[in-house]
Amino acid sequence: MDHVSIGGRYRFLRRLAQGGSGTVWSAQDDLGIFDKCAIKFPYCDPIDQSIRDRYQREACFLALLGESPHIVRPYACGESNGVPYLVMELLGMSLRELIDLYRYDRTPLSLDFISDIITQICSALVIAHRNLWPGAILHLDINPNNVLLQSTAGARPVVKIVDFSSARVARQRHLLALPTEGTPGYMAPEQERGDREALCPATDVYAIGVLALELLLLERGQVAWLQNSLVGTGVQDDHTPWESPLLIARRPDVPIALWHVVRQATRASATERFGDAGALADAWTAAMTQASHIAAAAAEPVHLLPALDPATRTQPLPCPATEILTQRVPSPVARPIAGLASLLASAPHRPSREPLSPEAVLQERLIAPPQR
Ligand SMILES: Nc1ncnc2c1ncn2[C@@H]1O[C@H](COP(=O)(O)OP(=O)(O)O)[C@@H](O)[C@H]1O
Ligand SMILES: [Mg+2]
Repeated sequence: MDHVSIGGRYRFLRRLAQGGSGTVWSAQDDLGIFDKCAIKFPYCDPIDQSIRDRYQREACFLALLGESPHIVRPYACGESNGVPYLVMELLGMSLRELIDLYRYDRTPLSLDFISDIITQICSALVIAHRNLWPGAILHLDINPNNVLLQSTAGARPVVKIVDFSSARVARQRHLLALPTEGTPGYMAPEQERGDREALCPATDVYAIGVLALELLLLERGQVAWLQNSLVGTGVQDDHTPWESPLLIARRPDVPIALWHVVRQATRASATERFGDAGALADAWTAAMTQASHIAAAAAEPVHLLPALDPATRTQPLPCPATEILTQRVPSPVARPIAGLASLLASAPHRPSREPLSPEAVLQERLIAPPQR
């Protein structure tokens, strides 16, 4: 089969992932400007004007924000036989894949690593939230699938946010008509009940809080648990430090002030949350200064769950993960970032499912076969 391309130059290589409404492929730019890139196009049928508008909006938001080091860089957008597409820089694995690997391995992510991820997400979103013209840009779909890691030569992973397809400018009149979207479990209450006027930077703060909790516990849907375990201490919010045995049992390395930050980020009422991602980042950093004291006091490294030990493993790891995890440093809690660097190097773009041939996908997506 000859190569399938779009836009007369982007040659499809393989399918990387499928999101809520788009399919993303890696591609080769035959013009040689971008070399490898990622292309997203919709898989829904029929492709009507609202979908084209959505792609245009996403491209506009990326054009406004893509200079940020933590937001995916857009290369081009266009339409092929009525199907809109977006070309962007090619990134590595998503936080969803990373969380799944660690959960499978029953190994916690280190606090330093989580902090690094959260502060990078915040620094991407603070630019959006404090954007002056046309106003505060809200992402509205922060979840582990939309936070990607970029493989770098250095030890520190670079986090990049993708998928501005649900984004909007806060309180912009004509965007208020759009239905609210998002991912269940990560949507703030105002977003979940479709209160468009109430969407604000604190709506994204909620999603970051949920994501932080998931990174800390490697479990989803734990907001109620966190709220209850703090309430159960019988101590007022502003009387820190206090202790919750439940929290300490789950993550003894996490300073209680950080649980408090996550709790405040995930408050039901937007006015009780941090005002925007910048305020959340400041509070997170302040709470993390307490972490060093706690770490010094702890005699043992934190192993909440059985550490990686092939002798005690009951289930085989999937093949790529075995390779990755055996390359990882012995204590992922102590040195996870170095572990991540080798992980990204060895499996940067794992497809989430068996890839179809480009031709089959194009047919499936109603894109006409390429001109030969
Ligand atoms: N630039 C990129 N490089 C590599 N993978 C990407 C890129 N952009 C998106 N992806 C992957 O494709 C998935 C779907 O893309 P996304 O923009 O989130 O589409 P949707 O709007 O359908 O959710 C993402 O969750 C991510 O795993
Ligand atoms: Mg998505």
